[in-house]
Amino acid sequence: MLKRIMAPLLGPRAKTESEAPVQPAPAPVYSSDAARLAAEIESLAPDKAVQLLTLLKRGLEFQSSEFERYLSAEALTTAIYPKFKFSEFARIFLEDEAFLAYYMRFMDVGNWHSLDRKYAMNELLKLVLHLEGDAAECGAYRGATAYLLCQAFRKIPMSIHLFDSFEGLSEPASVDGTYWRKGSLTAAEDELTQSLREFDNYRIYKGWIPTRFAEAADCRFRFVHVDVDLYQPTLDSLQFFYPRMVAGGIILLDDHGFKSCPGAKQAADEFFESKAENLALLPTGQAFTIKQ
Ligand SMILES: C[S@@+](CC[C@H](N)C(=O)[O-])C[C@H]1O[C@@H](n2cnc3c(N)ncnc32)[C@H](O)[C@@H]1O
Repeated sequence: MLKRIMAPLLGPRAKTESEAPVQPAPAPVYSSDAARLAAEIESLAPDKAVQLLTLLKRGLEFQSSEFERYLSAEALTTAIYPKFKFSEFARIFLEDEAFLAYYMRFMDVGNWHSLDRKYAMNELLKLVLHLEGDAAECGAYRGATAYLLCQAFRKIPMSIHLFDSFEGLSEPASVDGTYWRKGSLTAAEDELTQSLREFDNYRIYKGWIPTRFAEAADCRFRFVHVDVDLYQPTLDSLQFFYPRMVAGGIILLDDHGFKSCPGAKQAADEFFESKAENLALLPTGQAFTIKQ
């Protein structure tokens, strides 16, 4: 059975059961990497191997429609990692070629993990174009989201204030759990300026948050992106920017819905407990609020 399912994967020299000599049944000889992998899958998941390989084959079939391949991928994923829930078929953002090109410029090949977050941020930026005030980012790293800020506001006379240590994360506290290390996510300031080379509407503040916030104390903000992963710099950022937000301005928290960033969530939850605004958690893992 397994050999019949695998036949199309084994290339032109493989034989289906109907073509093979009736007997004697040969001992299994795994003549290709695909066959060896099929045997390994069978040993790892004897009860599911046929189902998994059937789904894989169906998904790989050249003549399958996009929808059939989507259903195969969904069923395969459900069989292996049921916690992951496929979303609806045919969402148009997955065909936004300009956005995909932007994303691929900044991210490692094959890493689509933050496509939805970056897309959501780019859409939220449209909601503040008509407001007054500057924009800011706490945690600019190599500039992927700073690029979105600079691009969105490029035709508006305003500044984008970018805060980063360029020494990575500060020392995590116990509330931050065990995932992060001091110095994780270090990027050089040059990488950021290179990413933003087509813009002149930003200013970089190199240093540990909140040491350089005072230099922007007289500004008002329409959009602030907080992406520092840890409790203390998230809290410092909210304490500084919240009172400086214009009505209708958006604070977007990148890390709120991730188990790897419990401190960032706790800081925001504590901060907004006494505020009029609620935080809305998005399925992307981000949370945001709109200043009243
Ligand atoms: C996840 S990265 C930011 C990614 C970026 N927003 C993007 O999406 O392209 C986090 C950044 O926060 C910075 N950072 C973390 N803690 C900081 C602190 N206490 N002071 C200043 N920068 C900090 C790190 O240096 C790092 O560049």
